[in-house]
Amino acid sequence: MSAEPTVKRLMAPNITALKTVRPIVSLTSYHAHTAAIADRHCDFLLVGDSLGMVMHGFETTVPVPLDLMIMHGRAVVRGAKRALVVVDMPFGTYEESPSAAFRNAARVMKETDCGAVKLEGGRRMAETIHYLVERGIPVMAHIGLTPQSINVIGGFKTQGRTKAEWAAIEEDARQVAEAGAFAVVLEAVAAPLAKRITAAIPIPTIGIGASANCDGQILVMEDMLGLSPRVPRFVKLFGKVGAVIEEAIGAYAADVRSGVFPGPEHAYEMKPESASAGAGTAGATPPKGRGTAPRPRGARAAKGRPRR
Ligand code: KIV
Repeated sequence: MSAEPTVKRLMAPNITALKTVRPIVSLTSYHAHTAAIADRHCDFLLVGDSLGMVMHGFETTVPVPLDLMIMHGRAVVRGAKRALVVVDMPFGTYEESPSAAFRNAARVMKETDCGAVKLEGGRRMAETIHYLVERGIPVMAHIGLTPQSINVIGGFKTQGRTKAEWAAIEEDARQVAEAGAFAVVLEAVAAPLAKRITAAIPIPTIGIGASANCDGQILVMEDMLGLSPRVPRFVKLFGKVGAVIEEAIGAYAADVRSGVFPGPEHAYEMKPESASAGAGTAGATPPKGRGTAPRPRGARAAKGRPRR
């Protein structure tokens, strides 16, 4: 047995225990470097299947394959040291039967080393949630607007804005909690309904477009950073990263075109002794690579990157 890890990673029960203690903070994350930053501020990171739309240009989350979730899940687990990492089960990998859900969720857990999975659906998924939790897989549920059902719902529509809709959504929340989910995402749910559900169930509600009445909040990281071209009304822009990237890339392009970049400070000169020894040597072995100048020793550091 190896020594105790120096940083203890949060687990699903730690998230459940935060209900009524303090607001739970979370973001989606799809890569190692943003995970490392978000890890310092968030209780859990969700490798959401929204990555299909945000990173890969799909129009909905429906086409996202399991292998893609696993690949991004691995990256986020490598980047985050403390936050619980939750990986979304994509459409078609868990709805058919509890045993199919277990097979795919177990693969996600084993291949990414994440601490929990998330799946969409209320009452209809209660049996599956129970089956997974009984077999060692922590499950975060997701009710209200469930984007994987977009083709049935007919659009990204807010849920529970008429009282007639409330009973079904409240029943979804009650049943996923009873089935053993450790938390439940409420997506695009009317504020008064989110308040009722949060008060009624023993597990934390994590709101996205569901008001401050929830136990915690989640946003798609690219949305709140100002990187997404269009965002829903419930997103607050906490940054203008898209504009910063645009400006930096524009400046780079201008510098390359005008010859300002790269300057001498970004180039490698010959070592003094090899410059004098090699100068004018007939029959020297030609250097490999695109240019004719020999690559100076030490110009490449580990992993093939030039030393800084
Ligand atoms: O896929 C995702 O990003 C999500 C959040 C919207 C909760 O499920």
